Amino acid sequence: MLNQLGPLCSKAGLSGNCLVITDENVAGHYGAAVVKSLESAGFTVAKTVLTPGEQTKCGDQLFNLYSECIKAGLDRKSFIVALGGGVIGDLAGYAAASYLRGIRFVQVPTSLLAMVDSSVGGKTGINIPEGKNLVGAFHQPELVLADLDTLKTLPAREYAAGLAEVVKYGIIFDAPFFELLEKNIDRLSDVNEVELLARLVGRSCGIKADVVAQDEREGGLRAILNFGHTVGHAIEKVAGYGEYVHGEAVAIGSVYAARVSVEVTGLSQRECDRIERIFPALNLPVTAPGYAWQDLRNALTVDKKTVGGMPRFVLASEIGTVSFGNEVPEALMEKIWNGMV
Ligand SMILES: NC(=O)c1ccc[n+]([C@@H]2O[C@H](COP(=O)([O-])OP(=O)(O)OC[C@H]3O[C@@H](n4cnc5c(N)ncnc54)[C@H](O)[C@@H]3O)[C@@H](O)[C@H]2O)c1
Ligand SMILES: [Zn+2]
Repeated sequence: MLNQLGPLCSKAGLSGNCLVITDENVAGHYGAAVVKSLESAGFTVAKTVLTPGEQTKCGDQLFNLYSECIKAGLDRKSFIVALGGGVIGDLAGYAAASYLRGIRFVQVPTSLLAMVDSSVGGKTGINIPEGKNLVGAFHQPELVLADLDTLKTLPAREYAAGLAEVVKYGIIFDAPFFELLEKNIDRLSDVNEVELLARLVGRSCGIKADVVAQDEREGGLRAILNFGHTVGHAIEKVAGYGEYVHGEAVAIGSVYAARVSVEVTGLSQRECDRIERIFPALNLPVTAPGYAWQDLRNALTVDKKTVGGMPRFVLASEIGTVSFGNEVPEALMEKIWNGMV
């Protein structure tokens, strides 16, 4: 579908010149096709290629992008194309949200995580040394184009990480979808299972869009998308960004949240076991050996979802039904963690 990008941008009402922002891993595979499609549709195209990795989602790179925007002659009518995973999507999206007080942008997600999560919903931003995603803006893309063929070059570990978010949608919103994942567990990791993959990506985006349409700015309901992320983000921070990729930390955080749910919101042990089983079957970790509770607890306090120093958890009462804003007693938080390391 990448060769449809130019015509689809025209159809979405975009015009003028644009800057394609991508990273080195993605540029070699898809950069030329994207530029060609945009140029054929009459757009003037500049491209900038960044270093891959979470470290790129930072203030220095953001300011570098503003300079690239100026160099490319972008004005208020121009737009940015984010071609890559969630790092590129978040960074390029925030550049679009802030350059000239906001220009339009398009998401072309190429990682599974970006397709099912970060490219939809309008959250953009960067990391600062104090924590992940602490600076950003809500800025909706004009268009999201997810070409499943691009997943064929995605490293297996990154693909598995994306599946963690897919599983999350089943847990928070859709028990039959969770069951579908369980039934097809051996086929989920095969990128050639195109029809199944289209169902996974389609349903995941559908759930995310549904939730965000009800609560764009996270006044309430949108928080359910953070299932597994309270502890997940803390793990990423304590381990140092990079040791675990985002989806892996979310898998561990999801098992943690499920175990807490058994104690606090009455999730049955049987359903907790189902959640614990699904992640290893997708080559995702469910424990984080060697990380002390106190370090994790300190990291929880910096997370932006804390209220008055107390972290809030999304917890399940059954698969498909969750509640948000749950406080968990200190002793229980610690006990559950110590049972996992
Ligand atoms: N905005 C949101 O709502 C939201 C939601 C979830 C996550 N995020 C953010 O997303 C980021 C993680 O995204 P990610 O997992 O996509 O990471 P990423 O962007 O770092 O991509 C993972 C790796 O895969 C490579 N890659 C991507 N597509 C490829 C392809 N088709 N072929 C070969 N290599 C490819 C990238 O170069 C990178 O090395 C985090 O920063 C996280 O905070 C944002
Ligand atoms: Zn996530």
